[in-house]
Amino acid sequence: MHFQWYPGHMTKAKRMMQENIKLIDLVIELVDARVPVSSRNPDIDEIGKNKARLILLNKADLAEDRWNDAWMEYFREKGFSVVKVNSKKGGGVKSIHSVIQEACKEKIERDRKRGILNRPVRAMVVGIPNVGKSTFINALAGKSCAKTGNKPGVTKGKQWIRLNKNVELLDTPGILWPKFEDQSVGLKLAFIGSIKDEILQTEELAAELIKFMNQFYPGVLEEKYNVTSEEDAYVMLRAIADSRHCLLKGNEIDTEKAAALLLDDFRGGRLGRLTLEYPQEVC
Ligand code: G4P
Repeated sequence: MHFQWYPGHMTKAKRMMQENIKLIDLVIELVDARVPVSSRNPDIDEIGKNKARLILLNKADLAEDRWNDAWMEYFREKGFSVVKVNSKKGGGVKSIHSVIQEACKEKIERDRKRGILNRPVRAMVVGIPNVGKSTFINALAGKSCAKTGNKPGVTKGKQWIRLNKNVELLDTPGILWPKFEDQSVGLKLAFIGSIKDEILQTEELAAELIKFMNQFYPGVLEEKYNVTSEEDAYVMLRAIADSRHCLLKGNEIDTEKAAALLLDDFRGGRLGRLTLEYPQEVC
């Protein structure tokens, strides 16, 4: 399996981020709790150096909680503030306000020494496509928050959302494009839907997911689709198609439809809470 990538996008997105980063005190980086390292773009460490850093393990509801906790430990040891959240349902979002103050305490202290009191922390949300940036911003800002409009010294057109008297958020998130050389990283990003399905063959991707599931979560597919485990992932995909009545005209098995169904069930959490990578692999 081979992935193609588009460095043109990356360059533009990176430039925009470098421009915006000058305006902010805190980088709030969303990662996908199921693949916390593969869903990071390593450039952010360079772009965000000298800024306070907060990592959010988003979609924590889709990942195994024991691994969420292990990943929180992993990032804390690297010096990040970390919170696990479910932006869709709002879980963990409230606790972020106090974590932001803690993460920015050096800046607040610096301000205080210079006689600047109560200047809000300015934050920007960043992350790869589909990681949940917009959902998170909506969950954090709620409906009641007013946009503050342009301010002197801020690039024209930039909007800030005042979350409370202590925090302002840049309303446009920074999009980081996933970056990888390792094909297994690309595969995990494809599983979670961060790489568009069009550049990968759906059945091939589903077959890889079946192999992963059989290795790390044996029994899950069998139970969900009422099939038996098969050595050959394509045979198992056909069994899933059969069990779910994915049929073409003439009652021929529609493995493409079954592949889409399987990927959709996985992405929607209907195969249970699953974690695809573990801290010991990257330590
Ligand atoms: P982006 O701005 O980073 O591109 O991501 P966006 O907020 O659009 O979220 C992408 C998808 O991820 C959305 O699903 C959103 O609902 C879902 N999502 C975001 N945060 C969470 C979370 O913490 N848990 C879960 N389970 N899902 C989350 P969608 O299918 O595209 O839209 P929708 O049908 O949910 O509205």
